[in-house]
Amino acid sequence: MIEAKKIRKLFKSQGKTVEALKEISFIAAEGEIFGLLGPNGAGKTTTLRILSTMLSPTGGTAIVEGHDILKEPAEIRRKIGFLSTETGLYDRLTPNDTLDFFGKLAGMEPGEIRKRADYLFDRLALQKDRKRLISGFSTGMKQKVSIARALVHNPSVIIFDEPTNGLDVLTAKTVTDFLKEMRGEGKTVIISTHNLSLVEKLCDHFVIIDMGNIVAEGTLPELLKKYEADELEDIFFKLVPERSDS
Ligand SMILES: Nc1ncnc2c1ncn2[C@@H]1O[C@H](COP(=O)(O)OP(=O)(O)OP(=O)(O)O)[C@@H](O)[C@H]1O
Ligand SMILES: [Mg+2]
Repeated sequence: MIEAKKIRKLFKSQGKTVEALKEISFIAAEGEIFGLLGPNGAGKTTTLRILSTMLSPTGGTAIVEGHDILKEPAEIRRKIGFLSTETGLYDRLTPNDTLDFFGKLAGMEPGEIRKRADYLFDRLALQKDRKRLISGFSTGMKQKVSIARALVHNPSVIIFDEPTNGLDVLTAKTVTDFLKEMRGEGKTVIISTHNLSLVEKLCDHFVIIDMGNIVAEGTLPELLKKYEADELEDIFFKLVPERSDS
């Protein structure tokens, strides 16, 4: 489970202060896919980086699998799989080598890594490419290897920033089917995305953030009823004003 408690984040750059997150609170439960939605610059990546202990909050905190991000970041890192838009891969490695490397780093035994790699490559349709160099891979294949890399240690919490960005519908479906399978195993899954039609089918619970504030929260039926809308996109247009500067 993830509990965000009044998270605030200020960034200072070039003498200016940006309030990226004002006071964000929510609960993402196990066995659920939680969707973080919002326009560009809303604060989605900042929220996910704070939850995964890559960035410290200016105020507030979060509890991830019973551990406080401020007090036990190392415990949390062992239990989460974090995928960011900047998750890097080594071009001169194969998917096999990549999982060997990151599995070892996570303290796994070779046999355990092999079993896990088999499972992940199977689910992500990477079996036939597992011994090819990543340098020759397409965007979608690289993204799937990044996902396998993030999950090699079988974490109980999955924090994915825009997991389907740049993927075609078929590859996106492979990824979302896999996330549903993770949900079925009782894991906590939190994702950020711009793809509203995709999350409508995928997520159990949503928050919409805009300019560092939560502007709506609930399940899809709750949100549709509250805002008298037919689909998530209508709610988005109602709540998030158009801006000329974004
Ligand atoms: N390292 C940083 N230094 C200064 N400002 C930052 C930094 N990271 C983020 N910000 C600012 O914080 C705000 C939120 O950014 P964030 O990346 O969290 O948005 P986002 O919702 O992920 O947007 P996108 O949909 O474009 O990925 C923006 O105004 C951004 O410019
Ligand atoms: Mg982002």
